[in-house]
Amino acid sequence: MKTTKLKPMLGLAGGLALALCSLAQAAPPDWSKVPARTVTVFYPGVSPLEWITKGSEHGGARALRKGETCASCHDQEAADMGKKMASGQKIEPSPPKGKAGSIPVNVQAANDGTHLYLRFSWKQPPGGAEKMDAATQVKFGVMLEDNKIPGANLSGCWESCHADARTMPGSKDDKKTKYVKDGSLASGKYYDLMQWTSKGAKFDGHVADRRVMEGGKALVDAKGENKGGDWSVMFTRKLAGGADGDITLASGKTYNIGFAIHDDWSAGRFHQVSLGYTLGIDVKADITAAKQ
Ligand code: HEC
Repeated sequence: MKTTKLKPMLGLAGGLALALCSLAQAAPPDWSKVPARTVTVFYPGVSPLEWITKGSEHGGARALRKGETCASCHDQEAADMGKKMASGQKIEPSPPKGKAGSIPVNVQAANDGTHLYLRFSWKQPPGGAEKMDAATQVKFGVMLEDNKIPGANLSGCWESCHADARTMPGSKDDKKTKYVKDGSLASGKYYDLMQWTSKGAKFDGHVADRRVMEGGKALVDAKGENKGGDWSVMFTRKLAGGADGDITLASGKTYNIGFAIHDDWSAGRFHQVSLGYTLGIDVKADITAAKQ
């Protein structure tokens, strides 16, 4: 009688201790010991998927169809590309004043068996354009993808960038956000989206048939600071997906990752973006989150 009563109680207490323990473990690594890789984000101008894949306009369209990644052609020249669009020399009818064509970002990643930690740091470039989002100087967004959206392994976030989205020239719908063709949570064809803003807000959403800035439960924390023009932003995210729109990350697997900075109080398409890269959990990839 006694033992049968005691056992479930012990089980409960043990479970509680474990739960508390794993919460306490959400401690970021010593970043000075985590290797960094530089990824240059660049100003993309008006280069939606439709422009990218149309052979007559973009030199990379054919190779892309054959399976070459954007980064294989453009990783080393992102700064030169960004300069063309930010200056209005190419595919940008309204270049924002002073827009940085590119920003080199230090990217670090780690995991502790329960959480993924991502850290991004960069020097604030000059700006000076009219404020589009007067409340927010900087927004930092990350999109993760679980190899289910066709093409996302080559193009990173570009599968969600379309010519008819709001703020694109000629868009007829100022509510139309980014979206994935045939995207849905049920099919797994979606990007998991997290965003930090310099106002101190954090969002855990996704992009499927439209962009949703809530509903995720995997994001534990997003923090950032600006020390005399040196920005750093850190995301802490559960490896396990928590809810709708959260992909599940597992040791030994590789995912697609892309990220973007809305600098200088910008909004909509007026951001600097990365090409697509791979994120490996305990496995070598473009960006490796090794266990600490
Ligand atoms: C086989 C190599 C190759 C691949 C793969 C490729 N591109 Fe390109 N891309 C080019 C070339 C060449 C140009 C310049 C000439 C042109 O506009 O066609 C270019 C131009 C661009 C430009 C305009 C800026 C510039 O420097 O002219 C953008 C933006 C761009 N590519 C983005 C992408 C993205 C995003 C992807 C992947 C979805 C991609 N490219 C894949 C070769 C490639």
